[in-house]
Amino acid sequence: MKKWYAVIGDPIEHSMSPLMHNTWMNAEERDGTYIPLHITKENLVEGFNGMKLLGCSGFNVTIPHKEAIIPLLDDIDPLAQKMGAVNTVVRQLDGTYKGYNTDGLGFVKSLEDAVGTHHKDKRVLVIGAGGASRGICFALAQEGYTKLSIANRTVAKAQAICDELDVVATAYSLEEAAASLDEFGIIIQTTSAGLNNSAFSLPLSLEKLSNTAIVADIVYNPLMTPFLAQSQQKGATVVTGLGMFIHQGALAYSYWNDVYPTADTVKPVLLEQLGGN
Ligand code: ATR
Repeated sequence: MKKWYAVIGDPIEHSMSPLMHNTWMNAEERDGTYIPLHITKENLVEGFNGMKLLGCSGFNVTIPHKEAIIPLLDDIDPLAQKMGAVNTVVRQLDGTYKGYNTDGLGFVKSLEDAVGTHHKDKRVLVIGAGGASRGICFALAQEGYTKLSIANRTVAKAQAICDELDVVATAYSLEEAAASLDEFGIIIQTTSAGLNNSAFSLPLSLEKLSNTAIVADIVYNPLMTPFLAQSQQKGATVVTGLGMFIHQGALAYSYWNDVYPTADTVKPVLLEQLGGN
């Protein structure tokens, strides 16, 4: 049977995952296809049963199913278990389905693609304490970034993530983090600040940003968020969110196909889709 893959979510029509995965499969001349499936919360159990019946080879999971899919799976990778969220599901040889999380590791790959792997001893500030922040913090800790701090509007949520990490991490308010911003070598923006139509554009003041800092944003629409634009003006090295999107997909692709595809194959296609930024 021809292999088929999917991304499930609600809403799903704007997902760029089908374009990205089909571009990789076509480039490798694989006999497979990747489709978007609109599955609502109410239909998750039935939807997944249908996918199993039709022999889905693997799929990505997006909002609002990243947590709800977990009890429906046969097995889960330990890192995804810790994160409490699954974004990639693999059909194993015996037909069972195992969940992984490639979001956080995809972010780390994107960061290291852009600036190298020699920054692990720097102090890292993660701004935000939602699901995206959580995944990134666990992945950073696993990959050897051990000097972590998390800043959030609701400090208790940042503290909760710190308490669960295997490394010592500090929670800050946004104001505290802004006041000591020059102490951080890597700063990662994980809130929805700057996202097209977002209610707020900057999570904290960049006044004290060091010009040697590396600043990354997970928002990729627009590519150059106000946070990155201001950081660049202050001399910092900036890393846009598109790399995280590409590498979470590349890692998922590698779990399905045992090949890690190149970011360069899909970058121009995705940039065109984003409006030629
Ligand atoms: P995701 O799962 O995508 O990370 P989320 O769980 O809704 O999304 O998290 C959103 C993050 O943006 C949180 O850190 C949130 O701060 P709170 O935990 O205090 O809610 C942050 N955020 C949202 N709106 C904000 C605003 N106006 N100012 C500052 N932070 C904001």
